Amino acid sequence: MSDVVLLGAPGSGKGTQASRIASERRWVHLSTGDLFRMHLVNDTALGQLAKSYMDNGELVPDEITVDMVRDRLERVPTDARVIYDGFPRTVRQAEALDELLTDLGRSFARAVLLDVPRDELVRRMTKRATCMNCQTVYNLATNPPKREGVCDRCGGQVLQRSDESPQIIERRLDVYEKQTKPLIELYAKRGGLRRIDGTGDPLEVAKRMSEAFA
Ligand code: AP5
Repeated sequence: MSDVVLLGAPGSGKGTQASRIASERRWVHLSTGDLFRMHLVNDTALGQLAKSYMDNGELVPDEITVDMVRDRLERVPTDARVIYDGFPRTVRQAEALDELLTDLGRSFARAVLLDVPRDELVRRMTKRATCMNCQTVYNLATNPPKREGVCDRCGGQVLQRSDESPQIIERRLDVYEKQTKPLIELYAKRGGLRRIDGTGDPLEVAKRMSEAFA
């Protein structure tokens, strides 16, 4: 199946849009941030290792991330389409994804970039809250859970993430500029990169995303 890479800075709406698309189109949503957070909640060795990087706004080392993605991808049927959210994030990870796709008989369709200005990213992340159980994302200003601190979908606990203090948000955005932004050029050179305006109502953004997949 032809898989899709969703690129964008922290807070650009990758998780929001990828989970919508995955449930509407029955694609598999593979979010490396969610996978790391699941390991954290389950207190695995990988979770403990990832925590120090995540709490500091740094990327988890490539080898660890790629092994985790391989493990997840090996369990996806070859006829199911995958949307990658937050992976790849470095040039090495992009190369590793190419190798993984070949090894597992999958292919790459296109990369989609969600474009959002930095001041808007900071505003969104400062207001974001996440269900610790099912990872549903809320915005405490515009889309809070109906009962404070309780997930509408699964009843899990909704909290702000530990990597969302003002300093760590700035650090994550700097890491994105330095380590992940070069991927935009890499995918643009290959052809098939679609840039989407990620500002405005999430439903409007979803409409633009659908057009990109038409
Ligand atoms: P990860 O969880 O992937 O975080 P991120 O990329 O920093 O992205 P975010 O989850 O912060 O934002 P998003 O783009 O998904 O936006 P969202 O939809 O939530 O990674 C966390 C950490 O894990 C990394 O720092 C790193 O340590 C590690 N990691 C993960 N992947 C890795 C990798 N490949 N390699 C190495 N390390 C890795 O939306 C944000 C907010 O905005 C929400 O409140 C939402 O409700 C709101 N919102 C969404 N759309 C809109 C809109 N259109 N208008 C207004 N508000 C909106």
